[in-house]
This record gives sequence, structure tokens and C-alpha cells, in this order.
Amino acid sequence: MNIIAFLGSPRKDGNTELLMKEAIKGVEDSRFKVQVFNLCRMKISPCRNCGGCDETGVCITEDEMAQIYDVIRTADRIILASPIFFFGLSAQTKIMIDRCQAFWCEKYLLKKPIPEGQYGRKGLLLLVGGREKDAGVQCSEATAKAFFRTISVPEHKTLSFTGVDAKGAILEHPTALKEAFASGKELVMLKNR
Ligand SMILES: Cc1cc2nc3c(=O)[nH]c(=O)nc-3n(C[C@H](O)[C@H](O)[C@H](O)COP(=O)(O)O)c2cc1C
Repeated sequence: MNIIAFLGSPRKDGNTELLMKEAIKGVEDSRFKVQVFNLCRMKISPCRNCGGCDETGVCITEDEMAQIYDVIRTADRIILASPIFFFGLSAQTKIMIDRCQAFWCEKYLLKKPIPEGQYGRKGLLLLVGGREKDAGVQCSEATAKAFFRTISVPEHKTLSFTGVDAKGAILEHPTALKEAFASGKELVMLKNR
């Protein structure tokens, strides 16, 4: 099973990264490996809406997004982890998502289905926000859902934690790490379809 994870937090060893690492431990506990993409360290340009992918489903911008296009096609499980910034996903996460417009064209304009693979593609969304309560989770979740559905992830689980602000504060949360570990384990245990 191919499992990939996108880390969208620019804060090294921050709350999102700690949470994602715990989910990965859950996956690895079932003897699967995870390929991690640290979006903040990758050179990925924003979508220019140039129309270059409209008729082909292939993005014409040449950068490190090329690796991501390839791995998404063969991924069986996809973890997307982002902090909440201004009520939405981090810019680094959103840039990668916007570049998936090429998949959107392939799927919806060219009407070529993007296969889910033999295990049925599944997703896990991890969100961390500093504010106690706001619309940040709903806004981020809406964008992530559009991303997942575009790349043929028909089903995903969301794990979100609010009121977690200072670096490392997630470690003090009573259940977050355990929930992330369990969600990672569950992600690879899900039955095919
Ligand atoms: C630019 C910026 C914008 C933020 N906007 C929000 C927000 O709208 N809602 C919220 O709950 N937290 C917001 N936060 C707080 C972060 O979500 C919080 O600190 C989180 O724990 C960061 O995760 P990290 O350690 O993985 O970077 C913001 C932080 C930054 C730096």
C-alpha cells in the first residue's frame, strides 16, 4: 500500500508536525511506510490559471510539483496536515492544492476518471488551530474536501484540534497524540471499499 503525507506547517517541530508524526507512527505500527512531503521545503509555484492544463490535464509549470503529481496517482492513503492560518489552510498547503487543478481538468473537463487504486483511496486530514473556536476548521475542511474529491479520495476522516497555539502545545493536549496514532492505524486498516 502506498501511503503519502503532506506537511503544510512552516514551523519545524510545531504542533502540526508533532501530530502528523504520531499519525505516521500509527501507520508504521501496522508495518507500512509513509513517504512524507514537507511542502514548506519544496519549490512549488502557485497556480497561474494559465489554462495550460485545460485540454491535457497536465500542468505546464515545471517545478517540484511534478513529484507530487506522480505520487498522488499511485497513493492508496493520503495524509494532509496543516495549521489553520487566517481561517484556512496554510499557504504552502493551499499552493499544492491549487496546482491539483490539473487533476480537476483531467477528471471533470476531459472526463477521465482518476483511478482510486486497488485498495480504494482514503484520506486523513489533520488540522491544528490556535483559537479556541472559530470557523477555521470548517473553512479548512471545505478546501481539503475539494482537494480530496478532486484526486479521487471519496472518503476521509478529519481530526482537528483548536486552542493549540504555542509551539509544542499539542503535547499537553489530553487526547490529541493518542487520537492521531489511532487515526493513522485506522487509516491502513480500513477495508477495501
Ligand atoms: C499567520 C497565522 C495565522 C493564524 N491564523 C489562525 C486562525 O485563523 N485561526 C486559528 O485558530 N489559529 C490561527 N493561527 C494559530 C496557529 O494555527 C497555531 O499557532 C497552530 O498551533 C500552528 O501550528 P504549527 O505549530 O504546526 O505551525 C495562526 C497563526 C499564524 C502564524
